[in-house]
Amino acid sequence: MSVHTDLKRISVPQLMACKGQRKIASLTAYTAPFARLLDDYLDMILIGDSTAMVGYGLPNTLSITVDQMAAHAAAVVRSTQKACIIVDMPFGSYQESTQQAFANAAKVLAASGADGIKMEGGAVMADTTRFLVERGVPVLAHVGLMPQYVHTMGGFKAQGMTDEAAERILHDALAHEQAGAFGVVLEGVAEALARRITKTLKIPTIGIGASPDCDGQILVTEDILGLSGARIPKFARQFADVGAVIRGAVEQYANGVRDGSFPGLENCFGVKK
Ligand code: KIV
Repeated sequence: MSVHTDLKRISVPQLMACKGQRKIASLTAYTAPFARLLDDYLDMILIGDSTAMVGYGLPNTLSITVDQMAAHAAAVVRSTQKACIIVDMPFGSYQESTQQAFANAAKVLAASGADGIKMEGGAVMADTTRFLVERGVPVLAHVGLMPQYVHTMGGFKAQGMTDEAAERILHDALAHEQAGAFGVVLEGVAEALARRITKTLKIPTIGIGASPDCDGQILVTEDILGLSGARIPKFARQFADVGAVIRGAVEQYANGVRDGSFPGLENCFGVKK
């Protein structure tokens, strides 16, 4: 017997249909509490490999594994009902061959229940996009500043500043569109280039340090909440200081423990009223 359930989650085709209709709002989440808080407000949640830096305190994104990404993605899927959930493919899990990419993408999607994957790389990765999409894996491409290329780029530097570089990034985005990607993340690229790519492509562009004219925007959640330390990237905006709220609560708790006001008897078991 087959059981039909109401699909409430925003699907990949629904995200694609936003192009020219309304902006796509998206953020990262790596854990259940954040995913729960974000779900009502967003079209898409990305389990970014930025969790390597943001969540694990590593210097770059290169050492996060498929199993770690799958575990984070499963936590986010379990804690959400509405947003489309996309998972980053970690460095080394898809570049070797199309077969390797499919095996790892299938593993992550099966283990987590996510809706699709994101993968960094220019036109050279378009065959991989085609291979995955033709086998049922929705692909969000990621071009421009690609953090997994930190060593070849010589750091996290904005891209597409010369005419030649801009043409190459436009070509990268077009190659992924032609290969069947459902969207393209444009990270850290010249504003005019992001605008031009957005006009040129039929699929949505999701900007991060790109252009207000992109079809959608994505940021790292910790950056907008004041949880990323003293400096946030130029392309982010801090919308709240949740760090200050947490520090205040922890200080009150520690003071309460030290002066004996916490726990109270209402926090204890077997106390006669
Ligand atoms: O890993 C990440 O968080 C990303 C960004 C696009 C937000 O790739």
